[in-house]
Amino acid sequence: MMALSETHLREKAAQYGQSHLFRFWDGLSSSERAGLLDSLSQVDFALMDTLIKSWVLHEPAPEHFSRIEPVNVIPPVDENSDRTALDAGEQALRDGRVATFVVAGGQGTRLGFDSPKGAYPIGPITGKSLFHYHAEKIHNLQRRYETVIPWYVMVSPTNDGQTRDYFRQEQYFGLRPDNILFVRQRVVPCVDATGKYILEGPGQPAVSPNGHGGSIQALVDGGAIKHAESRGIDVLCYFQVDNWAVKVADPWFIGYHCLANAAMSSKCHRRNDLREAVGVHCLCDGVYRVIEYSELDLYPQLLERDATGAPRYFAGNPAIHILSTGFVKYLNEHFDAFPWHKAHKKIPFVNEQGALIKPDAPNGYKFETFVFDALRFVPHPPVALEIRRPGEYTPIKQYEGVNSVVAARQSMADYWGKWLEKAGCSIPRAASGACCVPIEISPAFALTEEEFIAKARGRTLVIGDGVAVDAAGECIHPPPRR
Ligand code: UTP
Repeated sequence: MMALSETHLREKAAQYGQSHLFRFWDGLSSSERAGLLDSLSQVDFALMDTLIKSWVLHEPAPEHFSRIEPVNVIPPVDENSDRTALDAGEQALRDGRVATFVVAGGQGTRLGFDSPKGAYPIGPITGKSLFHYHAEKIHNLQRRYETVIPWYVMVSPTNDGQTRDYFRQEQYFGLRPDNILFVRQRVVPCVDATGKYILEGPGQPAVSPNGHGGSIQALVDGGAIKHAESRGIDVLCYFQVDNWAVKVADPWFIGYHCLANAAMSSKCHRRNDLREAVGVHCLCDGVYRVIEYSELDLYPQLLERDATGAPRYFAGNPAIHILSTGFVKYLNEHFDAFPWHKAHKKIPFVNEQGALIKPDAPNGYKFETFVFDALRFVPHPPVALEIRRPGEYTPIKQYEGVNSVVAARQSMADYWGKWLEKAGCSIPRAASGACCVPIEISPAFALTEEEFIAKARGRTLVIGDGVAVDAAGECIHPPPRR
């Protein structure tokens, strides 16, 4: 987008009470001035005004629902499941109707890694990154179904260049670059408690990516929908970059989605406990919703237990969805109706003298949209498929603790350790049953236990102080890396 003129932007800023954005103008260099005009040209002042008025200057009343009910969920797939769904999903893959779509535009604040989160070396032995793991799954599925599965990668203006460089440097993990498309999400200004945009530099408004809901606009703006349609793709398998375990294009899930002719489908997992930090799938006055965990106290039913003591509203949100291309286009055209959420955060700012201040406490607001809010717009009840977490959902939010790098590596060892045991290997385990050595099996070699056992037959798998099986099924076990 071409930058708008200084005069135009000054008028806009004044109209919306944001003239302070030009406070340091006289002292800015010409490139800083150009940078400020460029940033402000991207801002939707009218939208920001609505957000400020309805979220910052007034606290919105919580939504009220007269009836909340659990959602209907398809039980987890097992050997007794009707294979019609699998057949339909496999056919869609073979027919080239499927693309994968990862959202990787987040700031990864909690992990504190100074490259894009997807480049994090999650493999405890190989140092393979999250992106690399996802790419290897795509390789496997392309080979298995003799198909092409394009990969759309959502980035933000902050990590766009770094992410593209990383893919280039890794030679696209062996995937064809013309099957990978980066789409860039928009950013929104951060504001203080009085609704003024925060300046993080004399010529620089503080902005943050507009949340994973921004993927709807990014898919359209970035040309992914056009790309998909030109190839006859109508099934977009959405996942988040920090979940190493995700089945990136699960044929079962695709099958259920296609058979229901659904606009959007979602996976669910059983909540570990009532306060687990995941959204809850439920029907609110008959409309499919995901209620954020921070809002659970507003709806006490969601904290009820069933007769066994487990959460009655058990369907937690692992952020794995399928969207049809037609539905993405519909949502994009009606994006004005998409709800926004605010988060109170510590946002560095420049004071009157132009000095940078890093606050110790939250001092401002970031605005985000959430992709799961698309579920409230679906024309028919969405497909909800329950999953078991191992081998499907292990998000990484921080280095240690719950949802961490350490927990993810342990989950790799536990998950793949079982495969190795079934293949006849003996795995060292602690008294708790947890596997004691790091284990990695390349998803390009095997995506499922059955595939692994069939392919591992006759191979020598040595379990030393850990084991890593590469894409060709060879056993490699260099010293563990941190
Ligand atoms: P999170 O909300 O967990 O954020 O994003 P994050 O960036 O990974 O980590 P924190 O909260 O800053 O510590 C879940 C997924 O959504 C993507 C992230 O990249 C991650 O895959 N996301 C989030 C975006 O793509 N854009 C956004 O604006 C926000």
